[in-house]
Amino acid sequence: MPNTLRDVCSSADRAGHDDRELFRGGAKSSLETARLLFAIVEIQKGVHDMIRLGSLALLLLIVPVIASAQSDGVERGQKVYAAQKCNICHSVAGVGNKRGALDEVGSKLSADEIRQWIVDAPAMAVKTKAERKPPMKAYATLPREDLDGLVAYMQSLKK
Ligand code: HEC
Repeated sequence: MPNTLRDVCSSADRAGHDDRELFRGGAKSSLETARLLFAIVEIQKGVHDMIRLGSLALLLLIVPVIASAQSDGVERGQKVYAAQKCNICHSVAGVGNKRGALDEVGSKLSADEIRQWIVDAPAMAVKTKAERKPPMKAYATLPREDLDGLVAYMQSLKK
């Protein structure tokens, strides 16, 4: 009988062992699932970070381009302003005809209103009851870029 007892014991032990193995296996696999989930979350976070970094990098690339495009417009506008002799009737920073100071025009008028003044001053003069003489003519034939430049320049004049 001792042999049989030993057999029973060892088989019970084995069974217990097996159970533990099984339990451990289960624990291991749920641990692995958790790890996998964690990894997925981490990857998602990583992707989000990458997207965030990517858009940040894009922004850092784009902002100076926009800024320089805008200052290009303003510079062009300043040249057109000089070439068209706007300062016969207007002044900026005290230079030109002080009766038509434009130093605050960027905060006073919208881009559209400025554009309207340039392309159709007679209509704007009627609308705003502007009576200063000589009246401003319509600069209706300016090239698109010159007009955009003038508008950008006028918009930059703020106090
Ligand atoms: C012959 C004179 C004359 C010339 C040249 C002239 N303007 Fe004017 N401009 C006026 C008068 C007059 C007004 C009406 C408002 C006022 O009395 O200043 C006016 C109004 C404006 C306004 C609106 C200002 C405001 O405060 O509401 C803008 C902007 C403007 N002109 C831009 C220009 C630009 C840009 C040029 C050159 C392309 C130009 N003007 C050339 C006479 C002139």
